[in-house]
Amino acid sequence: MTQMRDSEARVILDTNDKGSYTVPTAGLYPYQWNWDSVFAAVGFSEYDLARAWLELETLFSGQWDNGMVPHILFHQVDPSYFPGPDVWGGIGPIPSSGISQPPIAATFVRCLWAQDRAAGEAKVRALLPRLRDWHRWFITWRGEGGAICVTHPWESGRDNAPDWDAPFAAINPVGVEDYRRRDITFVDEDERPRHYDYDRYLYLVKLGRESHWDEAHIKEVSPFRVADPTMTFTLLRANRDLLAMSRELGEPTDEIEGWIAEIEAGAEQLWNPEIDAYDCLDIRTGQHSGSISNASFLSWYAGLGGDRMLPHLDRIFAATRYALPSTDPDHPAYEPRRYWRGPVWAIMNMLVGMGLEEAGHSDRAEELRRRTGEMISGNGFAEYFDPRDGTPAGGRNFTWTAAVWLAWASPTTERITCPASS
Ligand code: GLC
Repeated sequence: MTQMRDSEARVILDTNDKGSYTVPTAGLYPYQWNWDSVFAAVGFSEYDLARAWLELETLFSGQWDNGMVPHILFHQVDPSYFPGPDVWGGIGPIPSSGISQPPIAATFVRCLWAQDRAAGEAKVRALLPRLRDWHRWFITWRGEGGAICVTHPWESGRDNAPDWDAPFAAINPVGVEDYRRRDITFVDEDERPRHYDYDRYLYLVKLGRESHWDEAHIKEVSPFRVADPTMTFTLLRANRDLLAMSRELGEPTDEIEGWIAEIEAGAEQLWNPEIDAYDCLDIRTGQHSGSISNASFLSWYAGLGGDRMLPHLDRIFAATRYALPSTDPDHPAYEPRRYWRGPVWAIMNMLVGMGLEEAGHSDRAEELRRRTGEMISGNGFAEYFDPRDGTPAGGRNFTWTAAVWLAWASPTTERITCPASS
């Protein structure tokens, strides 16, 4: 069974491959997404390193002059997706969205380089300045005393997590033109965000587009500015990997060391003593979200010392068959089939698992990997899964689920080796 899944996973990657970039899945997501592409590269690295590098090079070809790397690159217009390039009005070299996504690229560039020492060096040299510019953009425009914010829920990659409920309740989405969602023509409505959320997503897109994506203006006027563990923890980790690569290649390191110190200190703002966990912090109101998500467990991936999240991890492992649910099953907003309000996402499990392993919690890392493997081998390559029984949900034949299977969860492929974060 698992070997059959290995070859199926490769077929999915190859089918979603558009030549120089990979779509997350046909139909629902017909463009290049930022962090999806990094996972695609991880999947390709199992059998085609040159193709893996190309995926990342294409991603960075969409980088804006201000350093931002967009969350979607619209290489070829496809009317089956909404909101498309006109709604976004991106200002980069390739039609794009106007927000970014979790910066995991530097970390996996380093993993690829570890697998491809000789040919990889030139690739890394070319990517380093681009990664540095992107990270600087985060610190400049998304930093709040070292905690890293999102200006749109889509930026976090966790579109409809309960973390955004309070800030969204304060938004009255006036002026959003009529629109027609396309996502629910592909996927059951109960597995997707609600219309209420979509109105607010589009309100925030309009605000950005009308300012021509002027970050200073958005920072000043947007009602939505939330410090988020996905961004804070992935950027901290990415900076550690950027630092290691820069050192090795004799590139400047002072600025990166400064960022690391700043985020290490700033991440503490995300600790919510009321629930003894990392969660989101609404910069506009000073309120914590009070919701434990799978992103809360990225603290080990970020290399943050301490095991303060362990009791929650063990509790949630015991509560659901397929960990990690995207929302704590004990939270009132938990919905096991609705996107980021409950389902399990294999990509998050891989990142959390890498962190656990490096922090010396190999038993838990192995447990997470085993359950992820069982979930995929029993239910296929869905976008996400019901934590109670693994029922597949959302899109099918999904690139990142196939990639995570090949590089991490399959018992019969070689696991990706990434140098430990230091
Ligand atoms: C959804 C997910 C996001 C992902 C995108 C493409 O918007 O929430 O994390 O990058 O789909 O798969």
